[in-house]
Amino acid sequence: MTHRHPALFDFGDFSGRSEEYVALIRQFAAAQAFRSATVDELVLDDDYHRRPLRPEDFDFLKFMKPVRSDNVSRLPSLASNRTLLSIYELDVARMPRSADPADWQRFTEFYRDDVKTLGAQLSPFLEAYAFSYLGNLTAGDEGVDAAAERLLRIFDDETAFWDQTFARLMRNDYLEEGLRFIMVQRWALAPSRRRAVAQALASGFFDGLPVDARPTIEGDLPDDELLKRIAGSCGVTRQQHAYWQFYLPTSMAKTNLLYALARRPDRAFALAGAVFAAEAEWLAFGVALERACAHLQPAHRRAGDVESRKHELVGRFANALRAIGERFGDAALAQCVKGAAAGEHLAERGRWDLGEQLKWLSAIPRFCDFARRISARIDVECPDIDRETFVEPHEMCSTTHVHNDHRLVTIQEGEMLFWGNLGMQLQMNEGDMVLIPDGRLHGSTVMSGVCTYHQPIIPDDWVQALVLELEAPKPARVAA
Ligand SMILES: [Fe+2]
Repeated sequence: MTHRHPALFDFGDFSGRSEEYVALIRQFAAAQAFRSATVDELVLDDDYHRRPLRPEDFDFLKFMKPVRSDNVSRLPSLASNRTLLSIYELDVARMPRSADPADWQRFTEFYRDDVKTLGAQLSPFLEAYAFSYLGNLTAGDEGVDAAAERLLRIFDDETAFWDQTFARLMRNDYLEEGLRFIMVQRWALAPSRRRAVAQALASGFFDGLPVDARPTIEGDLPDDELLKRIAGSCGVTRQQHAYWQFYLPTSMAKTNLLYALARRPDRAFALAGAVFAAEAEWLAFGVALERACAHLQPAHRRAGDVESRKHELVGRFANALRAIGERFGDAALAQCVKGAAAGEHLAERGRWDLGEQLKWLSAIPRFCDFARRISARIDVECPDIDRETFVEPHEMCSTTHVHNDHRLVTIQEGEMLFWGNLGMQLQMNEGDMVLIPDGRLHGSTVMSGVCTYHQPIIPDDWVQALVLELEAPKPARVAA
């Protein structure tokens, strides 16, 4: 699509240069802070200066074709977003964990000039790679009222998503665990998102907007105290990024989009649009949480309050758009609308990714059953399938990751602990198996002296047929 106004990000600017940048990414990821996680690092203990990136993935990731809307949950998206968030936060001061010389060394190593310099060289490439698909979703000339309506849509879509999601979590008796995963995505990343916006605000990014027509993601709905209580009630109590390994690629992308725009004064209007979109999303999330966790919220909000908040937000965005158009013209207005459109689309992709992860996590016994049926089908229909066998030693641990296809994991010998959520521990012994759909975040560690397991790729139509059963009424009894 070519539009009169430039895209916010464009991977075309880097065409033919991937190899050169992959070499830089490898150099960057070789820093100590980014090495893969060990078994005791599944949750990081107040260790902001530790960001497992799985650098071994950069031996085969080529960064040739930018991330698209339909593969935001896959490895190239996960790897580029983990790397970007690491780069951005090299500018954030977090004190060393203790007076221990080892902690001091990690603190100073993390902020080394050469690592920061590499990060600065890399980030425009990675941003174009990770965000090109968000860069040009609209020509930006749709008019103020139509553009402001986007926020209503975000609010309503988000609300519908949460209604559906909380209903599923209750049905599957997975509310507490599901909330834990949700709070890691939304609450644990909120400080980073707010920091990006606060830094931009301090740097004058919103000076072009009337003071009463600026966006914010620090409002009282949801109220931070309530969020903290909900997070605490499901075990999300540690310092920021302790749960680094459990961030979905799209959760990081939502944070990174704000950081990426907040580093570019010439895209200040796009940042404003993106933060307005983020505000609508945050408001809907807050309302849904208040409803789902009514037992943790003493004061009850009236439905009318929510309606007026929603309309105030849309009205404030319309005022901002009008002010931008009048003072800075069509180019600025179009940029702001493009920012809101990027935020809207990314919010939708984030809901999809999170929804798929929760669908899987909340029905793991069903996915173990699907795995057995798939395994039986392989024996009959394609016994010569490539089983991709791995033999791993004791405590061999895989940093959480995603695959670009559906995988069956079957244990031939030994024991493995498998997880896809904070606190989840699926014990897998000889003969056990689980289906991991395309793009689902997971990790594992070997508990026995050695573990031999297979990981064949499963055709999409096989998996789709089984997953449909999740939506059908449950059979009276599921065979064990
Ligand atoms: Fe895996």
